[in-house]
Amino acid sequence: MIEFRSVSRCFEGKNEPFLALDNVSFNIDSGEFVCLLGHSGCGKTTLLHILAGFITPSAGEALIDGERVEKPAPDRSIVFQEYALFPWMSAIQNVSFGLRSLGIGKTERTDRAIEALKMVRLEECARRYPHELSGGQRQRVAVARSLVTHPAVLLMDEPFAAVDALTRGELQGDLLRLWKDIGVTILFVTHSIDEAIFLAQRAMVMRRGAIAGSRTIAAPYPRLRGSREFALEYRAIEEALYGNQYGGAI
Ligand SMILES: Nc1ncnc2c1ncn2[C@@H]1O[C@H](COP(=O)(O)OP(=O)(O)OP(=O)(O)O)[C@@H](O)[C@H]1O
Ligand SMILES: [Mg+2]
Repeated sequence: MIEFRSVSRCFEGKNEPFLALDNVSFNIDSGEFVCLLGHSGCGKTTLLHILAGFITPSAGEALIDGERVEKPAPDRSIVFQEYALFPWMSAIQNVSFGLRSLGIGKTERTDRAIEALKMVRLEECARRYPHELSGGQRQRVAVARSLVTHPAVLLMDEPFAAVDALTRGELQGDLLRLWKDIGVTILFVTHSIDEAIFLAQRAMVMRRGAIAGSRTIAAPYPRLRGSREFALEYRAIEEALYGNQYGGAI
């Protein structure tokens, strides 16, 4: 469903151009949950922004359902690390905002926003403003906002990095439930190996602008932290990230 064909992306540097993505190719199936891991600066956000249509490749192309990605569209939603909510709008206004530009009437906008807030178990907070919500609740609103357009693809850029560990665990559980319920395709960027193993069917590891490896995580859900299988997956991904005597291939 998602296809990256020999994508490179160059940024103008101060002295010389910088190659943030170097001939990247991969596919993601419809309904798949893929986590993308890699060291800071290896190109994860750049890759996501190309799929979102925020930036274009310098070479190659990104396709969704066979169509070349050229600009943002409601079939793809993105959730950022920071709480990118409008502070002057209530939760429900934040969630329904994106539907306005799609020409959807007020009643339907409200109904769909409530439906999306229910999905993240936050309908009771619909009238609250961002400053009246906890960090985890704000990120739930951001997830609801990304779901309200019924996207086929959810792009998530370290969405739970800023919340505490307990809330993070809850949000991870919620996301898995949502993914199973609505069958959306998810590409999720994280620095946490633990998070990737808990969530993903496949972990893709990036190094310096290239895909260094891709590993199917076959263990059934829910994944048990502390299990032997979990530890084995952890080691394999860690080796791909940091390299080892075998060259770090997975
Ligand atoms: N607009 C830009 N102009 C110039 N260089 C950029 C731009 N955006 C990204 N880069 C560079 O491209 C490289 C990849 O950046 P990117 O944001 O994709 O990394 P990342 O893997 O998401 O890192 P992090 O884990 O820290 O978020 C970095 O070296 C970054 O400095
Ligand atoms: Mg990033």
